Amino acid sequence: MYSRDQTLKLQKDTSAFLIKAETGDLHKNEINTLRNILRFHEYRYYILNDPLLSDYEYDLLYKLLEKTEKENPSLITPDSPTQRVAKGLTKEFPTVQHLVPMLSLDNSYNSEDLIDFDRRARELTGLIEIEYCVEPKFDGGSISIIYENDLLIRGATRGDGVEGDDVTANIKQIRSIPLSARISDYGLQQIEIRGEVLINKSNFAKYNQQLIEQGLPPLANPRNAASGTLRIKDSAEVSKRNLEAFVYHISYYTLLKGKKNPDTLKNHSASLEMLWELGFRSPQKEKRIFKGIDAVIKYCQDFEQKRDDLPYEIDGMVIKVNDFALQDKMGMTTHHPRWAIAFKFKARQATSKLLNVEFQVGRTGSITPVAKIQPVPIGGVTVSSISLFNEDVIKEKDLMIGDTVLVERAGDVIPYIVKSLSDARKGNEKKIHFPKNCPVCNSKLFKEEEEAVWRCLNIDCPAQVIERIIHFVSKDAMDIRGFGEANVRKFYELGLLKDIPGIYKLNFNKIGEIEGFGEKSIDNLKKAIENSKSQPLNRLIFALGIRFVGETTAKTLARTVNHLLDLKNFSVEHLLNLEDVGPKVAGSIHRFFNNKENISLLKHLEELGLQLKNEKKELAKDGKLTNLTFLFTGTLPTLKRSEAETMVEDHGGQILSGVSAKLNYLVVGEDAGSKLEKAKKINTVKIISEEEFLKMLQKK
Ligand code: IVH
Repeated sequence: MYSRDQTLKLQKDTSAFLIKAETGDLHKNEINTLRNILRFHEYRYYILNDPLLSDYEYDLLYKLLEKTEKENPSLITPDSPTQRVAKGLTKEFPTVQHLVPMLSLDNSYNSEDLIDFDRRARELTGLIEIEYCVEPKFDGGSISIIYENDLLIRGATRGDGVEGDDVTANIKQIRSIPLSARISDYGLQQIEIRGEVLINKSNFAKYNQQLIEQGLPPLANPRNAASGTLRIKDSAEVSKRNLEAFVYHISYYTLLKGKKNPDTLKNHSASLEMLWELGFRSPQKEKRIFKGIDAVIKYCQDFEQKRDDLPYEIDGMVIKVNDFALQDKMGMTTHHPRWAIAFKFKARQATSKLLNVEFQVGRTGSITPVAKIQPVPIGGVTVSSISLFNEDVIKEKDLMIGDTVLVERAGDVIPYIVKSLSDARKGNEKKIHFPKNCPVCNSKLFKEEEEAVWRCLNIDCPAQVIERIIHFVSKDAMDIRGFGEANVRKFYELGLLKDIPGIYKLNFNKIGEIEGFGEKSIDNLKKAIENSKSQPLNRLIFALGIRFVGETTAKTLARTVNHLLDLKNFSVEHLLNLEDVGPKVAGSIHRFFNNKENISLLKHLEELGLQLKNEKKELAKDGKLTNLTFLFTGTLPTLKRSEAETMVEDHGGQILSGVSAKLNYLVVGEDAGSKLEKAKKINTVKIISEEEFLKMLQKK
């Protein structure tokens, strides 16, 4: 897509424009160059996965473009990077017809199926040996996108294959789909491209974590998440989910007047290369061409081994006859092309029997139904317990005890019940009764109007107390090694531990009497408990298990206060001003710090020696770097970047994310790049070496 020379030129332009961003002035003649710079960096980030710019620097350039376009609205082009942003909500998605129906693929499951496919292909073409192109089968939501005169004009979902939903506004949120592509360079006027929208595994996990923290059931798998996201009416929300797309098929095209078919449209492999050159993410690196079916089979089997290492889900491989003339000769059925076949990987689904449903009480009193199934291996793991999240899930899936259920466990995804096979019912299945009272303390359960979760409101409910302690000592919270879930339960049952402060008042003589507790393990436990007293404030906040306060919010709160009890005086409005704190989170924090019992718990913990002060802020008061800002660039001779940054913060300084007039010191190592160039142009930034930086810390 970009030659070496073009890349170098664009990098040079980037440095120059970053300086212009500083002053905020751009001549309107330069607007197109700036757009090309932004497109280039989007390509490096979203297609090559090899960014050359920090997010902060990208934002600076993006804002400069936005500002210049605002001042010169007549210069806005439909493919400007600013035009992805959608305005307002969509009411309905209009139904649109695909230029060519979107067919499905025939499936194969083993090498015999593929040998059969090859035999049929040879018969239909009359050839002895066929050239195949093999690529991954992406597991997401299929889309069809149309470009006309180099511009993206429409994006639609598959729908029934003939007609789909026009989701153009949402498709524009996908950064790996270019808003314009120079198809005219290939003599093309219009092109319809097929592809798959995906959400990668780590973004999926992050999104699900957010849902769980909000008390909502997580989404089943990345496939459902991707196709569901395409249908969200608010494209700003779509943008947040970080969808990605692969394109793998050209279903239709027209030529510009007087142009001939380009060579890139003679075979599938060349068409994928063309798409790649045009700036799309096609399986350019993953595709392989083979003569004959044996090598195809081997590639498919080898790829299956790598399945879990990929950042996104694939459910098989697709084998396509490479030559387009041969494809035309072979034709299609009403369901699938005869020139292609999917090789499906081993299913991550299995059927099992629903033996029972247990009801667990969580840390916040939430009642979670958990399905106990006949243990069944799926994708290398034995599954016997599956969360059903809430009562609605049981109703929606129409589950009954004794049912045969279809279970799925995709990659790193938590297992879930897809459905019950109601045809297999014998009549002796039993209805699942959701309890009216807490299964542990028997108090009456409640459900708020807009919530799906039933709760036990008794904060002294033993189940909740135990879960709160387990959370408090856990790895991501106070990280008290050697405590663990089993010990919490054991100590609680024996009456040795009844609340969180109790962790710091354990009677070790009594513990010594428990079987399996030797001197060494007691010593280790004592040390771990003692060490936890000086854990940073953010960990303590997270450990308290305040509803909706995850690790990120805990960090924000810890940064904000000098002492944890300062939060008593924060109004909801004040909390709402904090980063990433919305009304729900603010309300919950406010309630927590206005509850007498919680405040006495915190005071008690402080008396027991826990750190409720913000140590970094304390240090910063007489810190050597207070009120100074730093940024590091290049490879430092002795320090790791992260070490150096921690040193700055420990001495009261602040790390900035980019060079700007706000920066006091740029610490430069070897091979420093554009940051150094930029800093040289701002008089107030002092450029120093690691040695000079370290000297600053030694000064009295
Ligand atoms: S080719 C006319 N290639 O799988 C042939 N499809 O189960 C068009 N899919 O409907 C399809 N990865 O949505 C093709 N590399 C790939 C694919 C792929 C995923 C989807 C596609 C298709 C479905 C069939």
